[in-house]
Amino acid sequence: MQAASALSKMFTQIAPPAILLSLLSATSTAHPLSDSAPASQPKPYTVNVDADFIEETRVKASQFRQTEPIEAPAWFDGPPTSEMNAVAKYWAEDYDWSKVQDGINKNFSHFYTTVPSPGGNYGSNESLDLHFIHQRSKRDDAIPILFLHGWPSTSLEWEKVILPLTDPKDDSQPAFHVVAPDLPGYGFSPAPKAPGLGGPEHATVFASLMAQLGYDRYVLYSTDLGTVVAMNYVVDYAPRIINHVTDFYLVFPTDDDNARYAANQTTAEETAYISSINGYLTNHSAYASIHSTLPLSLAYALNDSPVGFLAWRYELAWSVSDVDYTFDELITDALLLYIPGVYGNIRSYKELFGLDSFAPKVPYTVPTTVLQFGGNSHYVELANFNYVPKDWVERTANVTYFKRHEKGGHFPALSQPQWVIDDIRAALA
Ligand SMILES: *[C@@H]1O[C@H](CO)[C@@H](O)[C@H](O)[C@H]1NC(C)=O
Ligand SMILES: *[C@@H]1O[C@H](CO)[C@@H](O)[C@H](O)[C@H]1NC(C)=O
Ligand SMILES: *[C@@H]1O[C@H](CO)[C@@H](O)[C@H](O)[C@H]1NC(C)=O
Ligand SMILES: *[C@@H]1O[C@H](CO)[C@@H](O)[C@H](O)[C@H]1NC(C)=O
Ligand SMILES: *[C@@H]1O[C@H](CO)[C@@H](O)[C@H](O)[C@H]1NC(C)=O
Repeated sequence: MQAASALSKMFTQIAPPAILLSLLSATSTAHPLSDSAPASQPKPYTVNVDADFIEETRVKASQFRQTEPIEAPAWFDGPPTSEMNAVAKYWAEDYDWSKVQDGINKNFSHFYTTVPSPGGNYGSNESLDLHFIHQRSKRDDAIPILFLHGWPSTSLEWEKVILPLTDPKDDSQPAFHVVAPDLPGYGFSPAPKAPGLGGPEHATVFASLMAQLGYDRYVLYSTDLGTVVAMNYVVDYAPRIINHVTDFYLVFPTDDDNARYAANQTTAEETAYISSINGYLTNHSAYASIHSTLPLSLAYALNDSPVGFLAWRYELAWSVSDVDYTFDELITDALLLYIPGVYGNIRSYKELFGLDSFAPKVPYTVPTTVLQFGGNSHYVELANFNYVPKDWVERTANVTYFKRHEKGGHFPALSQPQWVIDDIRAALA
């Protein structure tokens, strides 16, 4: 009995009641649907995370247990201990969530809505709640665009491109109505309550959202796990997609490519790309393996240590990008995935991630814009990861615009926002 009550106490502590409450109250203003109810209408939303939860998290950061370093080269085993100690101290003493939250609310128009269960493999008939940024252009001729982020990001991955796309200074440039949701389990969108929200089911969720907003035809912009969603979207909802713009068109080598590689018959470009893919799979993909096999096991630890979670997501973000993060950015980016609970977002790998899942479903005919940002400065072995040979992309995609940039890494909308803006405009002009 003693053990059982200790267990139940443990579980009570694991669920963050304060934040859950604040998400529930947000949900209740969004009129959750029953199956027979008419489609929900989006409601304006103000981000307002429970202050007690933010304080409890700060206290946890202040109690961060330092790790004794060994004399390995920096980043050899993970983020450096000195940097983690410093960011924990900053979180405990200087970080100001309320200021960040004010910025999030002031800069963008936020909404909350409910979409019906997407069916398919999703194991629940309950509707799903979604938070999204909806920034409308003043221009009558604006083109709607839906942005799909991946892990470890949220809708704020797009914070530097939203306003310039919405209201270009130059009237001859195309303008856009931007819709940028948080994937379920990320940011302010609660996690799905059941397994089975895979690529096709996510696509149906966002197609429902766009239909609610009255957008019949729109551009899709995808990256990372969002690209897995897009690869289903462009087939299942093809007539709705004007153009699929992606900065993450990943093509894995076929058996024939690997045989040519082994026999030194690949081109220099193919060799560099296959080497980077191998470098990722060999040295940098452990996080994805764990997320897609034992997300709950890992979530207990990460949910209990905000600084530990920050380190886990920082390692990946640093490895694949050339973003030079400030402590404020590191903490905010971690918090946005920590607030809903990390289980829901790391678990999405179990539904979305796989070497096959980045390949489009066929027939894929939607006009496609492929943007490649490479040259991340931190690991030579990953420098060509985004440089899929163009003819490999053309094996499956109807490429209408192709652009390769020498840098930008995995988060170009954060590190090279102007290039992303220019490419979207040029591709849709
Ligand atoms: C909001 O906009 C200000 C001014 O452009 C910027 O400094 C800040 O980083 C933005 N905050 C967010 C969350 O986008
Ligand atoms: C969803 O509803 C359908 C029809 O009522 C039912 O057959 C099915 O078992 C339900 N599925 C779940 C996961 O509840
Ligand atoms: C391919 O090239 C490498 C390095 O030049 C060489 O070691 C290897 O033997 C070559 N393999 C074949 C099958 O030619
Ligand atoms: C993995 O990392 C090790 C150590 O840095 C390196 O020697 C090796 O080449 C890397 N593997 C690949 C496939 O890039
Ligand atoms: C590719 O897209 C263009 C532009 O929409 C379209 O005209 C063409 O038919 C598509 N090609 C294929 C092979 O689907």
